[in-house]
Amino acid sequence: MYREVPLQNFILTIREAQINDAQSMIDYMQIISTESNNIGFGMGEFQMTLEQEREVIRKYSESDNSVFLVGYIDEELVSLGNLSSSARPRMRHSADLGMSVLKKYWRKGIGQAMMHALIDWAKGSGILRKINLEVTTYNTGGIALYKKMGFVTQGTISRRMLIDGEFVTTYHMGLELD
Ligand SMILES: CC(C)(COP(=O)(O)OP(=O)(O)OC[C@H]1O[C@@H](n2cnc3c(N)ncnc32)[C@H](O)[C@@H]1OP(=O)(O)O)[C@@H](O)C(=O)NCCC(=O)NCCS
Repeated sequence: MYREVPLQNFILTIREAQINDAQSMIDYMQIISTESNNIGFGMGEFQMTLEQEREVIRKYSESDNSVFLVGYIDEELVSLGNLSSSARPRMRHSADLGMSVLKKYWRKGIGQAMMHALIDWAKGSGILRKINLEVTTYNTGGIALYKKMGFVTQGTISRRMLIDGEFVTTYHMGLELD
């Protein structure tokens, strides 16, 4: 996967993560953990070492049904997206999707471009037939984006997270691929 997406006054480059993206990815995760209550970890909770992150990237790059995509504007990492799937024969057609965009770049089309790239990768894999994701019920922006991409709500999970002493409910959303 390699694509250059012209958006407003910049070009977003989306490609598969490589080992030498590891430090940028760690730095990025540290930033977004402070920017949103819609992801699975908070400030200071992302604890991967450089070696662990490199290992994660290596495993994704060797997989035929999982992928880690990075989105760059020039040298700045501005978005991450991943599809994570099991190797088990009964489950390998079904991926869990995660994605994020740096807050200063929200509402510029980056999230939508990353979703298109992930869905196209899934279709091109020849293996994946279903994409699942989980989103907090108050993430109206994320939900709007996912509906725009064709995802439908398939379930509600109470007490899925505990943030600042409050339980958080999530929706499961899914997209079936032809
Ligand atoms: C959700 C998120 C990925 C959206 O990324 P983005 O780059 O801002 O999204 P885009 O600019 O591509 O928006 C595409 C469309 O999604 C919808 N959308 C996105 N953000 C929205 C918002 N805050 N309110 C309403 N609709 C929104 C709109 O339909 C938008 O199209 P439009 O701008 O033409 O109206 C981003 O806000 C983010 O990273 N949030 C924090 C982490 C997170 O929530 N990750 C998802 C966890 S499930």
